[in-house]
Amino acid sequence: SRPEEFVQASKLVAQAGFDGIDINFGCPAKKVNRNDAGCTLMNNLDRVYDIIQATCEATKLPVSIKLRNGKGQVTAEQLVKKVLDLPIQAIMVHGRTFEQAFSGESDWQQIKKIRTIYPGILLANGGLDTPAKAQSVITELAVDGIGIGQGCWGKPWFFSQIKEQLRFNRYTQPTWAQIKRILLTHAELMAADKNNDNLVEFRKHVLRYVNGHEKATALRKQLVTINSYQDLVNIIQQF
Ligand SMILES: Cc1cc2nc3c(=O)[nH]c(=O)nc-3n(C[C@H](O)[C@H](O)[C@H](O)COP(=O)(O)O)c2cc1C
Repeated sequence: SRPEEFVQASKLVAQAGFDGIDINFGCPAKKVNRNDAGCTLMNNLDRVYDIIQATCEATKLPVSIKLRNGKGQVTAEQLVKKVLDLPIQAIMVHGRTFEQAFSGESDWQQIKKIRTIYPGILLANGGLDTPAKAQSVITELAVDGIGIGQGCWGKPWFFSQIKEQLRFNRYTQPTWAQIKRILLTHAELMAADKNNDNLVEFRKHVLRYVNGHEKATALRKQLVTINSYQDLVNIIQQF
Protein backbone atom coordinates (compact mmCIF):
# COMPACT_ATOMS: atom_id res chain seq x y z
CA SER A 1 0.00 0.00 0.00
CA ARG A 2 2.79 2.42 -0.87
CA PRO A 3 2.32 4.98 -3.68
CA GLU A 4 5.13 3.37 -5.74
CA GLU A 5 3.23 0.09 -5.71
CA PHE A 6 0.14 1.82 -7.08
CA VAL A 7 2.25 3.31 -9.88
CA GLN A 8 3.44 -0.18 -10.82
CA ALA A 9 -0.01 -1.70 -10.45
CA SER A 10 -1.66 0.99 -12.58
CA LYS A 11 0.74 0.19 -15.43
CA LEU A 12 -0.16 -3.50 -15.22
CA VAL A 13 -3.88 -2.66 -15.18
CA ALA A 14 -3.51 -0.51 -18.32
CA GLN A 15 -1.47 -3.20 -20.11
CA ALA A 16 -4.14 -5.76 -19.28
CA GLY A 17 -6.68 -3.61 -21.14
CA PHE A 18 -8.95 -2.50 -18.31
CA ASP A 19 -11.05 0.68 -18.58
CA GLY A 20 -10.40 2.19 -15.18
CA ILE A 21 -8.84 1.89 -11.75
CA ASP A 22 -10.85 1.87 -8.54
CA ILE A 23 -8.85 2.25 -5.34
CA ASN A 24 -10.59 0.57 -2.43
CA PHE A 25 -10.12 2.39 0.90
CA GLY A 26 -13.15 0.58 2.28
CA CYS A 27 -12.09 -3.05 2.59
CA PRO A 28 -12.45 -4.29 6.21
CA ALA A 29 -10.91 -7.77 5.69
CA LYS A 30 -8.43 -8.67 8.44
CA LYS A 31 -5.81 -10.08 6.08
CA VAL A 32 -5.85 -6.81 4.11
CA ASN A 33 -5.90 -4.39 7.05
CA ARG A 34 -3.18 -6.32 8.88
CA ASN A 35 -0.87 -5.14 6.09
CA ASP A 36 -1.77 -1.47 6.50
CA ALA A 37 -4.04 -1.61 3.46
CA GLY A 38 -7.77 -1.34 2.78
CA CYS A 39 -9.78 0.71 5.25
CA THR A 40 -6.78 1.13 7.58
CA LEU A 41 -5.45 3.62 5.04
CA MET A 42 -8.21 6.00 6.17
CA ASN A 43 -6.12 6.51 9.33
CA ASN A 44 -3.42 8.14 7.26
CA LEU A 45 -4.93 10.80 5.00
CA ASP A 46 -1.52 12.00 3.79
CA ARG A 47 -0.83 8.50 2.49
CA VAL A 48 -4.29 8.33 0.90
CA TYR A 49 -3.52 11.59 -0.90
CA ASP A 50 -0.10 10.38 -2.07
CA ILE A 51 -1.53 7.07 -3.34
CA ILE A 52 -4.29 8.73 -5.37
CA GLN A 53 -1.98 11.43 -6.70
CA ALA A 54 0.69 8.91 -7.73
CA THR A 55 -1.91 6.71 -9.44
CA CYS A 56 -3.53 9.60 -11.33
CA GLU A 57 -0.11 10.77 -12.53
CA ALA A 58 0.93 7.27 -13.60
CA THR A 59 -2.09 6.44 -15.76
CA LYS A 60 -4.39 7.85 -18.42
CA LEU A 61 -7.19 5.60 -17.17
CA PRO A 62 -9.97 7.13 -15.07
CA VAL A 63 -9.29 6.70 -11.35
CA SER A 64 -12.14 6.33 -8.87
CA ILE A 65 -12.09 5.67 -5.14
CA LYS A 66 -14.23 3.68 -2.74
CA LEU A 67 -14.37 4.49 0.96
CA ARG A 68 -16.37 3.92 4.09
CA ASN A 69 -18.27 6.41 6.21
CA GLY A 70 -15.47 6.29 8.71
CA LYS A 71 -12.82 4.44 10.60
CA GLY A 72 -12.28 5.39 14.23
CA GLN A 73 -12.26 9.18 14.39
CA VAL A 74 -11.67 9.68 10.67
CA THR A 75 -14.74 10.38 8.54
CA ALA A 76 -15.36 9.96 4.83
CA GLU A 77 -16.02 13.70 4.64
CA GLN A 78 -12.51 14.44 5.99
CA LEU A 79 -11.00 12.10 3.42
CA VAL A 80 -12.92 13.67 0.54
CA LYS A 81 -11.94 17.20 1.69
CA LYS A 82 -8.31 16.11 1.74
CA VAL A 83 -8.33 14.86 -1.87
CA LEU A 84 -10.64 17.45 -3.46
CA ASP A 85 -7.93 18.88 -5.74
CA LEU A 86 -7.05 15.50 -7.29
CA PRO A 87 -8.57 14.45 -10.67
CA ILE A 88 -10.74 11.68 -9.24
CA GLN A 89 -13.46 10.56 -11.69
CA ALA A 90 -15.93 9.12 -9.18
CA ILE A 91 -16.30 8.46 -5.47
CA MET A 92 -18.35 5.63 -3.99
CA VAL A 93 -19.09 5.85 -0.28
CA HIS A 94 -20.17 2.78 1.67
CA GLY A 95 -22.39 4.32 4.33
CA ARG A 96 -21.26 1.93 7.06
CA THR A 97 -18.12 2.41 9.13
CA PHE A 98 -15.14 0.05 9.21
CA GLU A 99 -16.35 -1.09 12.62
CA GLN A 100 -19.78 -2.06 11.23
CA ALA A 101 -18.23 -4.26 8.52
CA PHE A 102 -21.14 -5.53 6.38
CA SER A 103 -24.19 -5.24 8.62
CA GLY A 104 -26.26 -2.58 10.35
CA GLU A 105 -27.61 0.64 8.95
CA SER A 106 -25.73 3.08 6.75
CA ASP A 107 -25.50 6.66 8.00
CA TRP A 108 -26.64 8.62 4.95
CA GLN A 109 -26.04 12.01 6.61
CA GLN A 110 -22.31 11.61 6.02
CA ILE A 111 -22.92 11.14 2.27
CA LYS A 112 -25.27 14.14 2.28
CA LYS A 113 -22.42 16.27 3.65
CA ILE A 114 -20.04 14.94 1.00
CA ARG A 115 -22.59 15.85 -1.70
CA THR A 116 -22.28 19.50 -0.66
CA ILE A 117 -18.49 19.58 -1.06
CA TYR A 118 -17.89 17.17 -3.97
CA PRO A 119 -19.41 18.10 -7.36
CA GLY A 120 -18.17 15.02 -9.25
CA ILE A 121 -19.80 11.63 -9.69
CA LEU A 122 -20.88 10.45 -6.24
CA LEU A 123 -22.25 6.97 -5.60
CA ALA A 124 -23.91 5.74 -2.40
CA ASN A 125 -23.74 2.17 -1.15
CA GLY A 126 -24.51 0.04 1.89
CA GLY A 127 -27.58 -1.96 2.83
CA LEU A 128 -29.71 -1.10 -0.20
CA ASP A 129 -31.81 -4.25 -0.33
CA THR A 130 -35.24 -3.00 -1.46
CA PRO A 131 -36.23 -0.88 -4.47
CA ALA A 132 -37.82 1.66 -2.10
CA LYS A 133 -34.59 2.14 -0.13
CA ALA A 134 -32.63 2.54 -3.36
CA GLN A 135 -35.12 5.12 -4.62
CA SER A 136 -35.09 7.17 -1.43
CA VAL A 137 -31.28 7.24 -1.27
CA ILE A 138 -30.99 8.34 -4.92
CA THR A 139 -33.55 11.10 -4.53
CA GLU A 140 -32.85 12.30 -1.00
CA LEU A 141 -29.05 12.37 -1.21
CA ALA A 142 -28.94 13.68 -4.80
CA VAL A 143 -26.22 11.16 -5.63
CA ASP A 144 -25.42 10.15 -9.20
CA GLY A 145 -25.87 6.46 -8.61
CA ILE A 146 -25.81 3.64 -6.10
CA GLY A 147 -23.85 0.46 -5.51
CA ILE A 148 -25.54 -2.84 -4.75
CA GLY A 149 -23.77 -5.71 -3.00
CA GLN A 150 -25.61 -8.19 -0.81
CA GLY A 151 -28.99 -6.80 -1.92
CA CYS A 152 -28.84 -8.76 -5.19
CA TRP A 153 -27.91 -12.08 -3.60
CA GLY A 154 -30.54 -14.59 -4.72
CA LYS A 155 -32.28 -11.93 -6.80
CA PRO A 156 -30.21 -10.77 -9.76
CA TRP A 157 -33.38 -9.12 -11.13
CA PHE A 158 -33.06 -6.55 -8.29
CA PHE A 159 -31.45 -4.03 -10.66
CA SER A 160 -34.47 -4.07 -13.02
CA GLN A 161 -36.79 -3.71 -10.04
CA ILE A 162 -34.93 -0.58 -8.92
CA LYS A 163 -35.19 0.89 -12.43
CA GLU A 164 -38.90 0.10 -12.50
CA GLN A 165 -39.38 1.69 -9.08
CA LEU A 166 -37.59 4.85 -10.23
CA ARG A 167 -39.74 5.15 -13.38
CA PHE A 168 -43.16 3.96 -12.23
CA ASN A 169 -43.01 4.04 -8.43
CA ARG A 170 -43.78 0.31 -8.32
CA TYR A 171 -42.06 -2.88 -9.34
CA THR A 172 -42.92 -6.44 -10.33
CA GLN A 173 -41.86 -9.72 -8.76
CA PRO A 174 -40.75 -12.56 -11.01
CA THR A 175 -42.91 -15.69 -10.97
CA TRP A 176 -41.49 -18.93 -9.53
CA ALA A 177 -41.25 -20.28 -13.11
CA GLN A 178 -39.08 -17.28 -14.05
CA ILE A 179 -36.99 -17.63 -10.88
CA LYS A 180 -36.33 -21.28 -11.70
CA ARG A 181 -35.08 -20.39 -15.17
CA ILE A 182 -32.83 -17.66 -13.78
CA LEU A 183 -31.34 -19.82 -11.05
CA LEU A 184 -30.62 -22.62 -13.53
CA THR A 185 -28.88 -20.14 -15.82
CA HIS A 186 -26.86 -18.91 -12.83
CA ALA A 187 -25.85 -22.51 -12.06
CA GLU A 188 -24.92 -23.15 -15.72
CA LEU A 189 -22.76 -20.03 -15.79
CA MET A 190 -21.02 -21.03 -12.57
CA ALA A 191 -20.34 -24.55 -13.87
CA ALA A 192 -19.00 -23.12 -17.15
CA ASP A 193 -16.82 -20.64 -15.27
CA LYS A 194 -15.37 -23.34 -13.02
CA ASN A 195 -15.19 -25.72 -15.96
CA ASN A 196 -16.69 -28.57 -13.95
CA ASP A 197 -20.05 -29.80 -12.78
CA ASN A 198 -19.35 -29.64 -9.04
CA LEU A 199 -22.04 -27.30 -7.75
CA VAL A 200 -21.44 -27.63 -4.00
CA GLU A 201 -20.45 -23.97 -4.01
CA PHE A 202 -23.78 -23.10 -5.64
CA ARG A 203 -25.73 -24.35 -2.59
CA LYS A 204 -25.40 -21.03 -0.75
CA HIS A 205 -26.71 -19.16 -3.79
CA VAL A 206 -29.66 -21.40 -4.55
CA LEU A 207 -30.82 -21.24 -0.93
CA ARG A 208 -31.26 -17.50 -1.33
CA TYR A 209 -33.36 -17.90 -4.49
CA VAL A 210 -36.07 -19.77 -2.59
CA ASN A 211 -36.69 -17.03 0.00
CA GLY A 212 -40.41 -16.34 -0.05
CA HIS A 213 -41.39 -19.63 -1.73
CA GLU A 214 -44.32 -21.25 0.09
CA LYS A 215 -42.42 -24.53 0.37
CA ALA A 216 -39.06 -22.88 1.10
CA THR A 217 -38.28 -25.13 4.07
CA ALA A 218 -38.82 -28.36 2.12
CA LEU A 219 -36.91 -26.97 -0.84
CA ARG A 220 -33.94 -25.86 1.26
CA LYS A 221 -33.72 -29.24 2.95
CA GLN A 222 -33.14 -30.86 -0.43
CA LEU A 223 -31.11 -28.09 -2.02
CA VAL A 224 -28.39 -28.24 0.65
CA THR A 225 -27.53 -31.70 -0.70
CA ILE A 226 -26.85 -30.83 -4.35
CA ASN A 227 -23.53 -31.82 -5.86
CA SER A 228 -24.19 -31.47 -9.59
CA TYR A 229 -26.31 -29.53 -12.05
CA GLN A 230 -28.50 -32.61 -12.57
CA ASP A 231 -29.15 -32.84 -8.79
CA LEU A 232 -30.34 -29.24 -8.92
CA VAL A 233 -32.63 -29.84 -11.91
CA ASN A 234 -34.13 -32.96 -10.30
CA ILE A 235 -35.09 -31.07 -7.15
CA ILE A 236 -36.29 -27.90 -8.83
CA GLN A 237 -38.55 -29.87 -11.21
CA GLN A 238 -40.59 -31.18 -8.28
CA PHE A 239 -41.59 -27.70 -7.11
C1 LIG B 1 -18.36 -11.06 -0.92
C2 LIG B 1 -18.08 -9.58 -1.05
C3 LIG B 1 -16.99 -9.15 -1.81
C4 LIG B 1 -16.70 -7.78 -1.96
N1 LIG B 1 -15.65 -7.38 -2.72
C5 LIG B 1 -15.42 -6.04 -2.91
C6 LIG B 1 -14.36 -5.58 -3.74
O1 LIG B 1 -13.60 -6.37 -4.31
N2 LIG B 1 -14.19 -4.24 -3.89
C7 LIG B 1 -15.02 -3.34 -3.29
O2 LIG B 1 -14.85 -2.13 -3.47
N3 LIG B 1 -16.01 -3.75 -2.47
C8 LIG B 1 -16.23 -5.06 -2.28
N4 LIG B 1 -17.25 -5.48 -1.45
C9 LIG B 1 -18.05 -4.48 -0.75
C10 LIG B 1 -19.29 -4.11 -1.53
O3 LIG B 1 -18.93 -3.49 -2.75
C11 LIG B 1 -20.17 -3.15 -0.74
O4 LIG B 1 -19.47 -1.96 -0.49
C12 LIG B 1 -20.62 -3.73 0.58
O5 LIG B 1 -21.00 -5.09 0.46
C13 LIG B 1 -21.80 -2.93 1.14
O6 LIG B 1 -22.89 -2.94 0.27
P1 LIG B 1 -24.16 -3.91 0.50
O7 LIG B 1 -24.70 -3.60 1.87
O8 LIG B 1 -25.09 -3.56 -0.62
O9 LIG B 1 -23.64 -5.32 0.42
C14 LIG B 1 -17.53 -6.83 -1.30
C15 LIG B 1 -18.62 -7.28 -0.53
C16 LIG B 1 -18.90 -8.63 -0.39
C17 LIG B 1 -20.08 -9.05 0.46
